[in-house]
Amino acid sequence: MKLTYSKSHVSEEEINAVGKQLSPYAEHLKEVLQHGYEDEESSINLPGDKELMESVGAALRDKNTTSLKYILVIGIGGSNLGTKAVYDALYGRFDILEPSRMPKMIFLDTTDPGILLHLESFFDKEITSEEEIVINVISKSGDTTETIVNAELVLGMLQKKFPGILDRLVVTTDFGSLLWKIAEAEDITRLSIPEKVGGRYSVLSAVGLFPLAKVGINVTALLDGARKMREKCLSLDIRENPAMVSAAVLFTNYHSGKTINDNFIFHSELESLGKWYRQLLGESIGKEHDRDGNVVRVGITPTVSIGSTDLHSVGQLYLGGPEDKITTFIFAEFSKRGTVVTPEVFAGVLGGISGKKPADVADAILKGVKIAYEKKGLPFMEALLPDITPASLGAFMQFKMMEMMYLGQLFNVNPFDQPNVELYKIETKNILNG
Ligand code: PA5
Repeated sequence: MKLTYSKSHVSEEEINAVGKQLSPYAEHLKEVLQHGYEDEESSINLPGDKELMESVGAALRDKNTTSLKYILVIGIGGSNLGTKAVYDALYGRFDILEPSRMPKMIFLDTTDPGILLHLESFFDKEITSEEEIVINVISKSGDTTETIVNAELVLGMLQKKFPGILDRLVVTTDFGSLLWKIAEAEDITRLSIPEKVGGRYSVLSAVGLFPLAKVGINVTALLDGARKMREKCLSLDIRENPAMVSAAVLFTNYHSGKTINDNFIFHSELESLGKWYRQLLGESIGKEHDRDGNVVRVGITPTVSIGSTDLHSVGQLYLGGPEDKITTFIFAEFSKRGTVVTPEVFAGVLGGISGKKPADVADAILKGVKIAYEKKGLPFMEALLPDITPASLGAFMQFKMMEMMYLGQLFNVNPFDQPNVELYKIETKNILNG
C-alpha cells in the first residue's frame, strides 16, 4: 500500500514534529511485541501467533463438511464488522451475481424483526441438512443483548428442524465469559479471544479467522499482509511509517477544523471495509474524557463514500459545502479486463467514451475528482492498494489499527475503550429486565 499526503495541507515540518512526538510510542509498540497479550496494544501480536492458527485449524476440521453452503455469523460491532469487511471485499459484494458459489456468509447483526422473519423462512426453504450450515456466535463480552437474542432465536428456529444443530455451532468469546462457561457445559466448540484484544481490533483473531477461513479465504495471506505492514508501522522514521503519517495528517487537519474524515473508496466491494474503519475511528477516538480524566469531548467523525456512486449524492456537498473534511481516497489499480464500450444503441450520447474500457472511465472519474478537490483547496490523502487480495486487506487493516494507536497518543485518549457505549447497553438491559 502506498500512502501519499502531498495534498493534505500538512507541511513537512508538521509531519516531522509529529514523528518526533510519536517515536517513543513506536518504541513502546516494539516492546509490546515481546509481551504476548499483556498490553492494551497486544492485538499487534495476532499476526504470527501460531497457537491461534492451531486452534482455528482444529475448529475448521471439526466443522468440515462437503455440503457446507452457509456460515451464519451472529455478532455486532467489533465482533462482525472486520469479518464482513474482508468477506464483502473478496466475495460478498458479488454474492448475488455468483449464486452457485458456495459457501456464502450471512451476517446477523441486528434484532430487526423483519430480517429475522426472512431468516426463518430462508432456513425453512434453503437448509435441507444441518451439514449445510455453520453458526458462529461471536461476542467478546459474551453478554451483548443483540447477539445473545439472535443466537437464541436462530437456535430455536433451527433446533425444530435439526435436533443436532449444536454440533454445527462455534462460540467465539473471551475465555471464562458467561457465554464461554455455558458453551463449555454444553460441549459446544469454543474459540477464545485474548482478553486485551478489544472487539474492533480483533479481526485477525479467531473472531475473523475462523469464519473467513471457513468460506475459503486465505487467512495465512491476510495475516502475512498484516505482519509486513506491522513492521512498517513500527518504524521510528515517520516517512517509512504510513500509520504515523496518516495519524499526523488527521490530527493536524482536526486542529484546523477538519473534524470529519471522509473515506472515499473507489471500489464498491470495499464499502464494508470503510464501515469497519468507521467503527475503529469513531469508537477509538470519539471520547468524552482524556487519559487524565479531563472532559475533552474530542473525536473525528468518520464517513464512508463510494466512488463514483456517491458523487451523485454527496459530491455537491463535498465540493461546495462546509470545509470541514479531510478526505482519504482509497483505491486499487482498476482491472484492465473487461469489455470495451462500443456504440450499440446510444451512440449519440456516448461521444468520446466509445472505445474505452470500464477501467479507463473509472480512472478518469477518480483523477477528475482529485483535480476538483485540489482546485477547491480541499485537503486529501491517497491510499493506493496494490490489489484487492487477502494480503492487501490484511495490510490495510493493520495500518489502520496502528494509525488508531498513534492517534490515541496524539489526542491523549484511550483508543481501546468505549465507556459511553456501555451507557446504552445498561439502559437497554434495565428496560428489558424491568
Ligand atoms: O469494539 C468494540 O469493543 C465494540 O464495538 C464491541 O465489539 C461490540 O459492542 C460488541 O461487543 P461484544 O463483542 O462483547 O458482543
